[in-house]
Amino acid sequence: MTKSFIEIKDLSKKFVDKNDDIIILNNVSLKLPGNNLLALTGPSGSGKSTLIHLLALLDSPDNGSYSLISSENLFSFSEKKKSNYRKKNISIVFQNYNLISDLTAVENVMLPNLYLNIKKNDTFNLAKSLLTKVGLENRLNHKPAELSGGEKQRVAIARSLINNPKLILADEPTGSLDTKNAENIIELLRNFKNQDSLIIFATHNKSLVSKSDLELTISNGNVNFK
Ligand SMILES: Nc1ncnc2c1ncn2[C@@H]1O[C@H](COP(=O)(O)OP(=O)(O)OP(=O)(O)O)[C@@H](O)[C@H]1O
Ligand SMILES: [Mg+2]
Repeated sequence: MTKSFIEIKDLSKKFVDKNDDIIILNNVSLKLPGNNLLALTGPSGSGKSTLIHLLALLDSPDNGSYSLISSENLFSFSEKKKSNYRKKNISIVFQNYNLISDLTAVENVMLPNLYLNIKKNDTFNLAKSLLTKVGLENRLNHKPAELSGGEKQRVAIARSLINNPKLILADEPTGSLDTKNAENIIELLRNFKNQDSLIIFATHNKSLVSKSDLELTISNGNVNFK
């Protein structure tokens, strides 16, 4: 049997509303193998972003455990330990990009490695090569306000790849891109998968789902392989 890369047990998450609780995950248990490009699908509001934030340790569940490559239960870590773990192992492309507005494109991409005390010159060269791969070699010194939506999205993707993370979580990473750029980004993500990594991307786009290795669907509080 393939060793699981991610193991989730009894994961529950709800949001408490004035009238009704919104149940997003209802006691979900899952094992996900590494070395895969995994598409996360489901209707708008089904909980894709919520699941991605949980897996990125940016939100806490009501119940359940989560281990990555046989780690301890990551949900039991303190905030500080979660943050250190995330910096080394997990990266996320947010649905709304979350670029730092005062930094240029290349500085935004460099940022994760600067936190890890990797040499600035090496990081600059790597950031430049990633921006070239996403077609932004002529936008290195543009600040987010000077970039189009699709360009900002491509900077966010380059940033998510710079620290060689084990788990890449991308929340609709191609939502602002035209078909050609979207397919390029999925190919770029695919190039980063290996025995020690897993890439999960949320999408509504059927043609991108067909380029993934596995499809995981979330609906009515359940998460299943399709
Ligand atoms: N902080 C919050 N408080 C209350 N409800 C929330 C909160 N965050 C999300 N929700 C609700 O939880 C549900 C799931 O939201 P989520 O953003 O995870 O959906 P999604 O599958 O990513 O949707 P989309 O495809 O539109 O991005 C939605 O109905 C949303 O309104
Ligand atoms: Mg979402």
